[in-house]
Parts: sequence; C-alpha cells; structure tokens
Amino acid sequence: ALVTLRRKAKDCRACPLWKPATQTVFGDGPADAAIMLIGEQPGLHEDMQGEPFVGPAGRMLDRALQEAGLEREALYLTNTVKHFKYAQRGTAKLHKRANSAEQAACRMWLAAELARVQPRIVVALGAMAAQTLFGNAFRLTRERGEWRVLGECVQAMATWHPSAILRGRERKDAMYRQLVADLRSIKGR
Ligand code: URA
Repeated sequence: ALVTLRRKAKDCRACPLWKPATQTVFGDGPADAAIMLIGEQPGLHEDMQGEPFVGPAGRMLDRALQEAGLEREALYLTNTVKHFKYAQRGTAKLHKRANSAEQAACRMWLAAELARVQPRIVVALGAMAAQTLFGNAFRLTRERGEWRVLGECVQAMATWHPSAILRGRERKDAMYRQLVADLRSIKGR
C-alpha cells in the first residue's frame, strides 16, 4: 500500500542525499488518482514541510491547475527525486540539481508509486521527470505538450516546470500560458 511505501521511503539510504536533508518528501494524493504529476525534486519549503510542491513553485502550480480547471486534491503529486539537495552558503541552503546517479537511485520509488496508483494520465513537469519517463533523448523545448502512450494504457505528456517559469525572465508569461494550456489538454482524455 501507499502508506507502507511512504514509511519505507522515510528510511531510504539508496543515495547520499538523505543525510543532509530534513526528511524524505514522498508523493501525496489519493491512492486511486487518475492523474499523476511528477516534478523534479523537493526544494527548501518541501524539505521543511515534508510535502511536495508547497513552496513558490507549488503556488504557481496551484494557480495553473485552477486555471486549467483541475483540482489539486484529486491529483497524485510527486517528484523524480525525493530528497532536497543543496549547497550550504552561510545560513542559506542553495538548491542543487540531483545528478544522474541520485536520480537513478530514486527511480524505484517513482516506479512503485506508478505501480500502486496506476494513473491513467501522467504529466512530467520539467526535463528531469520527462527524461525519466521518455528517455534521455527527450527535449522539452521540442516535445512539450505532446501526448504519447506509456506502457499499455497510460497517456503521458511533459510540460514546463513551474520553477523554470519562475526563472523564465521575458518568456515567463508565454511559458505560463503554455503550462495552463498543456494542463487543460488533460481534460477529455
Ligand atoms: N519543485 C519540484 O520539482 N518539486 C517540488 O516538490 C517543489 C518544487
């Protein structure tokens, strides 16, 4: 069951990220959710609160979901990597991207979540989740918003990660519109 997975993931030592992190940030949502959203890795806020997408990226995601007519509570939200990775600079913890070994070590948890929840629709937020699902040749800039079939009956698509939009400078608005449109395209599938 999902609760058992979450409990086991608490004590995961499959890569070194557990040590400096506050806690494992496991996925969250109904065990029978039809839609699963997969992000990259927890940030500072997620690390402190133990829940995915509760910081600035989460607030943007909430707004986009609302505009797309999707209810966050009905979705299963998770990440490719379940621990916060950072560099300590004085009192600040600066976000660092998990490397491929750390991503690979964490893959079993995502695989277990997919097997347990069995969503009909999977959305990758950002390149890390997209490449985990579709392979390393996947390019978000080219293939964003395109639906494809995963396994037997799962429809999957990748779109911008809210954090990438927050960093997007002059392209912010356009990227955000694309995120909302991509999320809207879930409906009716
Ligand atoms: N970014 C992610 O990819 N996941 C989170 O949970 C928060 C920010």
